[in-house]
Amino acid sequence: MTPSVAAAHGPLLTVRGLARTIGLRKLFAIDTLVIPRAAAIVMTGMNGAGKTTLLRMLAGLEAAPGAVAQWTDANGTHSAPLTPLPPALRRRIAYLHQHPYLFRTSVRENIAYGLRARGLPPHEIDCRVGEALGWAGVSHLQDTAPEYLSGGEIQRVALARAKVLEPELLLLDEPTSSLDGHAREQVIALVGDLAAEGRTVVMICHDRELINLPGVVRWKLGDGVLDTHHP
Ligand SMILES: Nc1ncnc2c1ncn2[C@@H]1O[C@H](COP(=O)(O)OP(=O)(O)OP(=O)(O)O)[C@@H](O)[C@H]1O
Ligand SMILES: [Mg+2]
Repeated sequence: MTPSVAAAHGPLLTVRGLARTIGLRKLFAIDTLVIPRAAAIVMTGMNGAGKTTLLRMLAGLEAAPGAVAQWTDANGTHSAPLTPLPPALRRRIAYLHQHPYLFRTSVRENIAYGLRARGLPPHEIDCRVGEALGWAGVSHLQDTAPEYLSGGEIQRVALARAKVLEPELLLLDEPTSSLDGHAREQVIALVGDLAAEGRTVVMICHDRELINLPGVVRWKLGDGVLDTHHP
């Protein structure tokens, strides 16, 4: 299933007043952040610029005092404080940590977890998890405990675990930074897939190949400012 087209007009999400100060240091202050629909966005910036902090705020994992989110769905346009993350947004946003944490069960259970939490019927969970395992190329690992997975396999399972929930916005923190060779290529292909499905993917990344994905939009965070038209 591709993301809802019921409200396919305007941006996916607009956030106003997104700012972070640490002690006396202003990390960033973003007046208006517009996240478009169906876009692949790469965010770059120096170490310590605040990229991870920014993504975590958008995911509701870090407080964003004063920030206001606005979005449109089939029921109209809504506006609410970004913190705590409104439930309607929580269902639409997935965040992937740079080093994803997997529960110490099996690969299959990790992917099924979010669907169970949503109360889906078991046969539908089985079906969706089977598809996601196949998509990520990890069907052969479905009964494996996560501690036996390689870094690339962990990233693919984490991507499958996010995709299975059909998010409209995926926030990826350096998805390929700890990978090389074939593992990196596989993750790049999955990220490309997610964007091609019409989801919005915002990824922090220095990987040339991801930055050069077709149609990528570039954001650069530096000196407290987010440049969303970075060439
Ligand atoms: N809870 C916190 N308390 C104090 N300082 C923090 C906290 N969270 C982040 N910082 C600081 O904020 C700055 C931005 O951190 P962040 O992890 O967002 O940067 P980044 O752009 O993702 O960097 P990198 O490229 O190294 O991953 C860093 O200087 C970091 O030490
Ligand atoms: Mg970071």
